[in-house]
Amino acid sequence: MKSVNELLDLKGRVSLITGGAGHIGQVIAEGLAEQGSNLVLLDVNTEKLNAVAEGLKHKYSVNVMTLVVNLEDEIEIKSVADKVGKEFGKLDIMVNNAAFVGDSSLDGWATSFEKQSIDTWRRAIEVNLTAPFCLIKSCASLFEKSGAASIVNIGSIYGISGPDLSLYEGTAMGNPAAYAASKGGLTQLTRWLSTVLAPNVRVNTVSPGGVFRGQPESFVNRFTEKTPLKRMATEEDIKGTVVYLASDLSKYVTGQNIVVDGGFTVW
Ligand SMILES: NC(=O)c1ccc[n+]([C@@H]2O[C@H](COP(=O)([O-])OP(=O)(O)OC[C@H]3O[C@@H](n4cnc5c(N)ncnc54)[C@H](O)[C@@H]3O)[C@@H](O)[C@H]2O)c1
Repeated sequence: MKSVNELLDLKGRVSLITGGAGHIGQVIAEGLAEQGSNLVLLDVNTEKLNAVAEGLKHKYSVNVMTLVVNLEDEIEIKSVADKVGKEFGKLDIMVNNAAFVGDSSLDGWATSFEKQSIDTWRRAIEVNLTAPFCLIKSCASLFEKSGAASIVNIGSIYGISGPDLSLYEGTAMGNPAAYAASKGGLTQLTRWLSTVLAPNVRVNTVSPGGVFRGQPESFVNRFTEKTPLKRMATEEDIKGTVVYLASDLSKYVTGQNIVVDGGFTVW
């Protein structure tokens, strides 16, 4: 029987992380590199992407490839499989982490339901749901060459629960319908793919709770009060769950949604 450490070993594997330059994406990338996986970091933000790639290359003895891709562009998405295939010949792990998360200054996003725009709705669905569908489909032949393929889709508590808008009162923050619908859709796409791509490819979701990023104190206090573990998430909280699902430690786990939210959705 293999030891836990052997099952967690990702040496020789190739992991593609979308949104690899982002807060959670770079921590997931680091977790996979710690276990020896080579990396393909994909993001639309060239400057941040290069900085993250340089850092990880120096810290770990793994190959790091960068792909500047806009996940709102189908042609760019379709170019990914070819580039990864040429460099590595296969793909073992894909983490669909990039997301259209908007911000409070974006028109038609973090606002009342009546003011939420079709334009921001479409962009969120495009990046958060259509792009993973398209990327997974175009990488199918690379997964076949893996022998241990694992896809991890990053969902959200808001793909599971309805919003409690009282959490945001008195702040410029919001909780748009498009984000919730895109993450709920991604969680169901996970279940759909887990049976269709079996037995060669495992597909799971990780749904994080709210990550602390210096949000207004009133919001943090209300969110913390509502969370059984009495704090918001950190990026580190999410890393171990993704590495577990990416590795052979979870080789009999597919179609699941692991909720990493300090108990927020349990009530
Ligand atoms: N931060 C939270 O509280 C939280 C909570 C639950 C779930 N999540 C999920 O975790 C994931 C990571 O979130 P984060 O907080 O690290 O966000 P982030 O904004 O720090 O990172 C997202 C990354 O995705 C990239 N990206 C966005 N649009 C893109 C596009 N069109 N093409 C290519 N790349 C694009 C951005 O450049 C960025 O680097 C997301 O799926 C998010 O929905 C976050």
